[in-house]
Amino acid sequence: MIIVYESKTGFTKKYADMLAKNTKLKAYRVKELPKDIKDEEIIFLGWIKAGKIQGLGKVRKYNIKAVCASGTAPHAEPNEETVVANNKIESIPFFYLRGGCLPLKELTGMDKILMSMFLKILKSRKEKDGKIEGTISNIVNGFDGVREENLEPVVQWISKNK
Ligand SMILES: Cc1cc2nc3c(=O)[nH]c(=O)nc-3n(C[C@H](O)[C@H](O)[C@H](O)COP(=O)(O)O)c2cc1C
Repeated sequence: MIIVYESKTGFTKKYADMLAKNTKLKAYRVKELPKDIKDEEIIFLGWIKAGKIQGLGKVRKYNIKAVCASGTAPHAEPNEETVVANNKIESIPFFYLRGGCLPLKELTGMDKILMSMFLKILKSRKEKDGKIEGTISNIVNGFDGVREENLEPVVQWISKNK
Protein backbone atom coordinates (compact mmCIF):
# COMPACT_ATOMS: atom_id res chain seq x y z
CA MET A 1 0.00 0.00 0.00
CA ILE A 2 1.26 3.50 -0.84
CA ILE A 3 0.09 7.08 -0.31
CA VAL A 4 -0.42 9.24 -3.39
CA TYR A 5 -1.27 12.93 -3.10
CA GLU A 6 -1.90 16.15 -4.99
CA SER A 7 -1.26 19.47 -3.22
CA LYS A 8 -1.03 22.99 -4.56
CA THR A 9 -0.22 25.12 -1.52
CA GLY A 10 1.15 22.44 0.81
CA PHE A 11 -1.66 21.68 3.28
CA THR A 12 -2.57 18.29 1.76
CA LYS A 13 1.13 17.49 1.51
CA LYS A 14 1.43 18.04 5.26
CA TYR A 15 -1.28 15.41 5.78
CA ALA A 16 0.40 13.02 3.33
CA ASP A 17 3.74 13.43 5.13
CA MET A 18 2.13 12.94 8.56
CA LEU A 19 0.31 9.86 7.31
CA ALA A 20 3.53 8.43 5.86
CA LYS A 21 5.28 8.99 9.19
CA ASN A 22 2.47 7.41 11.22
CA THR A 23 1.91 4.39 8.99
CA LYS A 24 5.43 3.88 7.55
CA LEU A 25 3.87 3.89 4.07
CA LYS A 26 5.67 5.72 1.28
CA ALA A 27 4.10 8.92 -0.06
CA TYR A 28 4.34 10.09 -3.67
CA ARG A 29 3.06 13.17 -5.44
CA VAL A 30 0.84 12.28 -8.42
CA LYS A 31 3.44 13.55 -10.85
CA GLU A 32 6.21 11.55 -9.17
CA LEU A 33 4.45 8.19 -9.22
CA PRO A 34 6.80 5.27 -9.70
CA LYS A 35 6.21 3.42 -12.99
CA ASP A 36 5.35 -0.02 -11.68
CA ILE A 37 2.35 0.59 -9.45
CA LYS A 38 -0.37 -1.12 -11.47
CA ASP A 39 -1.41 -3.51 -8.69
CA GLU A 40 -0.32 -1.40 -5.73
CA GLU A 41 -3.06 -0.41 -3.28
CA ILE A 42 -3.33 3.39 -3.01
CA ILE A 43 -4.57 5.80 -0.37
CA PHE A 44 -5.22 8.99 -2.29
CA LEU A 45 -5.17 12.51 -0.80
CA GLY A 46 -6.19 15.54 -2.85
CA TRP A 47 -7.36 19.10 -2.29
CA ILE A 48 -10.85 20.25 -3.21
CA LYS A 49 -11.26 22.95 -5.85
CA ALA A 50 -14.81 24.07 -6.60
CA GLY A 51 -16.08 20.71 -5.38
CA LYS A 52 -13.64 18.57 -7.36
CA ILE A 53 -10.88 16.54 -5.73
CA GLN A 54 -7.74 17.55 -7.58
CA GLY A 55 -5.48 14.86 -8.99
CA LEU A 56 -8.03 12.07 -8.58
CA GLY A 57 -8.68 11.84 -12.31
CA LYS A 58 -5.03 11.04 -12.96
CA VAL A 59 -4.99 8.04 -10.62
CA ARG A 60 -8.46 6.57 -11.16
CA LYS A 61 -7.07 3.81 -13.34
CA TYR A 62 -5.02 2.51 -10.40
CA ASN A 63 -6.06 0.43 -7.40
CA ILE A 64 -7.52 3.20 -5.18
CA LYS A 65 -8.58 1.83 -1.78
CA ALA A 66 -9.50 5.07 0.01
CA VAL A 67 -9.78 8.77 -0.83
CA CYS A 68 -9.07 11.72 1.47
CA ALA A 69 -9.87 15.28 0.46
CA SER A 70 -8.80 18.53 2.10
CA GLY A 71 -10.83 21.71 2.06
CA THR A 72 -10.98 24.86 4.15
CA ALA A 73 -14.23 24.25 6.01
CA PRO A 74 -14.36 22.27 9.28
CA HIS A 75 -16.57 19.69 7.50
CA ALA A 76 -17.03 18.76 3.86
CA GLU A 77 -19.08 21.42 2.06
CA PRO A 78 -21.98 21.23 1.45
CA ASN A 79 -21.73 17.69 2.90
CA GLU A 80 -19.76 14.45 2.44
CA GLU A 81 -22.45 12.77 0.31
CA THR A 82 -22.29 15.59 -2.25
CA VAL A 83 -18.49 15.56 -2.43
CA VAL A 84 -18.55 11.77 -2.84
CA ALA A 85 -21.24 11.91 -5.53
CA ASN A 86 -19.63 14.82 -7.44
CA ASN A 87 -16.34 12.96 -7.53
CA LYS A 88 -17.87 9.57 -8.35
CA ILE A 89 -16.26 7.70 -5.48
CA GLU A 90 -19.39 6.11 -4.00
CA SER A 91 -17.77 2.68 -3.73
CA ILE A 92 -14.58 3.89 -2.01
CA PRO A 93 -14.09 4.84 1.68
CA PHE A 94 -13.90 8.64 1.96
CA PHE A 95 -12.30 10.86 4.61
CA TYR A 96 -12.61 14.64 4.74
CA LEU A 97 -9.60 16.48 6.19
CA ARG A 98 -9.62 20.13 7.15
CA GLY A 99 -6.76 21.79 5.27
CA GLY A 100 -6.01 25.46 5.10
CA CYS A 101 -5.44 28.34 2.76
CA LEU A 102 -2.79 30.91 2.02
CA PRO A 103 -3.74 34.58 2.41
CA LEU A 104 -5.59 35.68 -0.75
CA LYS A 105 -2.77 38.04 -1.76
CA GLU A 106 -0.38 35.07 -1.96
CA LEU A 107 -2.57 33.11 -4.40
CA THR A 108 -1.85 33.46 -8.09
CA GLY A 109 -3.53 32.96 -11.46
CA MET A 110 -6.93 31.32 -11.78
CA ASP A 111 -6.99 30.26 -8.11
CA LYS A 112 -6.73 33.90 -7.04
CA ILE A 113 -9.48 34.93 -9.46
CA LEU A 114 -11.82 32.15 -8.28
CA MET A 115 -11.16 32.88 -4.59
CA SER A 116 -11.67 36.63 -5.14
CA MET A 117 -15.02 35.88 -6.78
CA PHE A 118 -16.02 33.63 -3.88
CA LEU A 119 -14.96 36.35 -1.41
CA LYS A 120 -17.02 38.94 -3.26
CA ILE A 121 -20.10 36.71 -3.06
CA LEU A 122 -19.60 36.20 0.68
CA LYS A 123 -19.05 39.91 1.32
CA SER A 124 -22.16 40.84 -0.66
CA ARG A 125 -24.41 38.77 1.61
CA LYS A 126 -26.64 41.09 3.60
CA GLU A 127 -26.90 38.83 6.62
CA LYS A 128 -23.50 37.56 7.63
CA ASP A 129 -23.42 35.08 10.51
CA GLY A 130 -20.27 34.17 12.44
CA LYS A 131 -19.53 31.33 10.06
CA ILE A 132 -19.48 33.61 7.00
CA GLU A 133 -17.40 36.23 8.82
CA GLY A 134 -14.96 33.45 9.77
CA THR A 135 -14.73 32.22 6.19
CA ILE A 136 -14.11 35.77 4.95
CA SER A 137 -11.33 36.24 7.49
CA ASN A 138 -9.77 32.85 6.60
CA ILE A 139 -9.71 33.72 2.89
CA VAL A 140 -8.24 37.19 3.42
CA ASN A 141 -5.72 36.30 6.13
CA GLY A 142 -5.13 32.61 5.44
CA PHE A 143 -5.19 29.88 8.06
CA ASP A 144 -3.80 26.42 8.75
CA GLY A 145 -6.33 23.83 9.95
CA VAL A 146 -4.01 20.82 9.56
CA ARG A 147 -4.03 18.78 12.76
CA GLU A 148 -2.58 15.35 13.44
CA GLU A 149 -5.81 14.23 15.15
CA ASN A 150 -7.82 14.83 11.96
CA LEU A 151 -5.94 11.89 10.48
CA GLU A 152 -6.90 9.43 13.22
CA PRO A 153 -9.81 7.80 11.29
CA VAL A 154 -7.52 7.37 8.26
CA VAL A 155 -4.71 5.85 10.34
CA GLN A 156 -7.21 3.47 11.93
CA TRP A 157 -8.64 2.51 8.56
CA ILE A 158 -5.14 1.81 7.22
CA SER A 159 -4.19 -0.31 10.24
CA LYS A 160 -7.29 -2.46 9.64
CA ASN A 161 -6.89 -2.72 5.87
CA LYS A 162 -3.14 -2.81 5.24
C1 LIG B 1 -9.66 28.25 -6.26
C2 LIG B 1 -9.95 27.47 -5.02
C3 LIG B 1 -11.15 26.76 -4.92
C4 LIG B 1 -11.44 26.04 -3.74
N1 LIG B 1 -12.62 25.33 -3.66
C5 LIG B 1 -12.90 24.65 -2.52
C6 LIG B 1 -14.12 23.90 -2.41
O1 LIG B 1 -14.93 23.83 -3.32
N2 LIG B 1 -14.37 23.26 -1.23
C7 LIG B 1 -13.48 23.30 -0.19
O2 LIG B 1 -13.75 22.70 0.86
N3 LIG B 1 -12.31 23.96 -0.28
C8 LIG B 1 -12.01 24.63 -1.42
N4 LIG B 1 -10.81 25.30 -1.52
C9 LIG B 1 -9.87 25.24 -0.40
C10 LIG B 1 -8.76 24.21 -0.62
O3 LIG B 1 -9.27 22.95 -0.95
C11 LIG B 1 -7.95 24.08 0.67
O4 LIG B 1 -7.38 25.31 0.89
C12 LIG B 1 -6.91 22.96 0.62
O5 LIG B 1 -6.57 22.58 1.94
C13 LIG B 1 -5.66 23.36 -0.13
O6 LIG B 1 -4.81 22.24 -0.22
P1 LIG B 1 -3.31 22.33 -0.74
O7 LIG B 1 -2.58 23.31 0.15
O8 LIG B 1 -2.78 20.96 -0.58
O9 LIG B 1 -3.31 22.78 -2.16
C14 LIG B 1 -10.51 26.03 -2.68
C15 LIG B 1 -9.29 26.74 -2.80
C16 LIG B 1 -9.01 27.44 -3.95
C17 LIG B 1 -7.70 28.19 -4.04
